[in-house]
Amino acid sequence: MSALFGEGRIGGLTLANRIVVSPMCQYAAVDGIAQTWHLVHLGSMMMSGAGLVIVEATAVEEIGRGTPGDLGLWNDVQEAALTGLVGELRNLSSAKIGIQLGHAGRKASTRTIPERWRGEPLPPEEGAWTPVAPSAIAYDEGWPVPDALDESGIRRIIAGFADGARRALRAGFDLVEIHGAHGYLIHNFLSPIANRRTDRWGGSPENRARFAVEIVRAVRAVWPRELALGFRFNSTDWTPEGSTLDEAVALARLLEAGGLDYAVMSSGNIRPGIAIPPAAPGHQVPFARAIKEETGLAAMAVGMILHPLQAEEVIASGAADFVALARSMLDNPRWGLHAAAELGVDVAYPPPYLRARPNNWLGYAQAHPRARPPHSTLQLDRPRSVSSWDRPRGAPAGPEATREGAR
Ligand SMILES: Cc1cc2nc3c(=O)[nH]c(=O)nc-3n(C[C@H](O)[C@H](O)[C@H](O)COP(=O)(O)O)c2cc1C
Repeated sequence: MSALFGEGRIGGLTLANRIVVSPMCQYAAVDGIAQTWHLVHLGSMMMSGAGLVIVEATAVEEIGRGTPGDLGLWNDVQEAALTGLVGELRNLSSAKIGIQLGHAGRKASTRTIPERWRGEPLPPEEGAWTPVAPSAIAYDEGWPVPDALDESGIRRIIAGFADGARRALRAGFDLVEIHGAHGYLIHNFLSPIANRRTDRWGGSPENRARFAVEIVRAVRAVWPRELALGFRFNSTDWTPEGSTLDEAVALARLLEAGGLDYAVMSSGNIRPGIAIPPAAPGHQVPFARAIKEETGLAAMAVGMILHPLQAEEVIASGAADFVALARSMLDNPRWGLHAAAELGVDVAYPPPYLRARPNNWLGYAQAHPRARPPHSTLQLDRPRSVSSWDRPRGAPAGPEATREGAR
């Protein structure tokens, strides 16, 4: 029995398994509005075999976009596009659908892929805007100095997260994840590297946590308990000057009290130039384990989860409740279906792809030598004898069968 393919509870949601498609910016939105690309990309993720697909970081206000191609959810047109998108995605599989709400803070106003490599700031002639942050400290040399937020700006953004969650609810999402990592606005408040304030929003770890706590409370107030609410943490800034895992654990306890259901543990990116240990498979799993051991929150591990057996071990060992995969899913958008065959689990395929299901296709074992597909009890639309393998029920044998098979 696979732990990875066991049902998982997260807040009020039940997921069919523990595999999550991690949020991934596509830089393909226009004025924050989802495009055909989002349907195609997310549609393929819905058919990956994952139990949950989380839509990319979506800005809660215009100046909170990292790039002009980021998704947004601050107006009715964006909400309508996401409502349509969720409706289409529901036709593809029963995977639950989440959205990550964020604000890019001092890392806003950068170029979109493919015009950038290392996320350079937008030049003025390409429509640059002035980012906001807790303190007027630029992300790096050559980056714009952000405006330090005043009390009313802070209140506006907290309300923006709540408004984004209200819109996400109307659009039909099952889950909201708040982006508190990777050098974006919430992380800017949390980290002493970007937050040098001396008021109640800066200084002590409790003061630096206040912005995150208020956002989670404001979102929880509008986001139903039957659904799920998560937070992406920066487990560490990888430097003694920055935030630490102990602070992340303390924050997790505060957010749990504020109504959070799960934590996803990432790290890094508060500023360039910090030496980070090379990313090895599962390198951030220990952070998820720490949260799981120290709090009652469900923990999601992310980062270099590559192989089905590795993912199985993360869940079976109790290190995390869920694994979130990003690049592995871009590399192989049927990752979950292949993982099932490798772990000997019987899972349903999208009906139009049944011809490639292990029990229907002799080539499967040769294409995937490590697979050990189980004796299937699902979707048996074909006779089981080898001589008639790959032939639809009722289709003639003999020369006509050959023609059938050649189609
Ligand atoms: C194309 C791409 C876009 C990403 N966009 C986001 C994002 O919108 N929000 C986020 O929290 N992380 C984002 N990430 C980070 C991933 O969610 C994930 O944490 C990271 O890639 C490590 O997981 P992996 O080794 O499975 O790729 C992105 C990663 C990639 C590859």
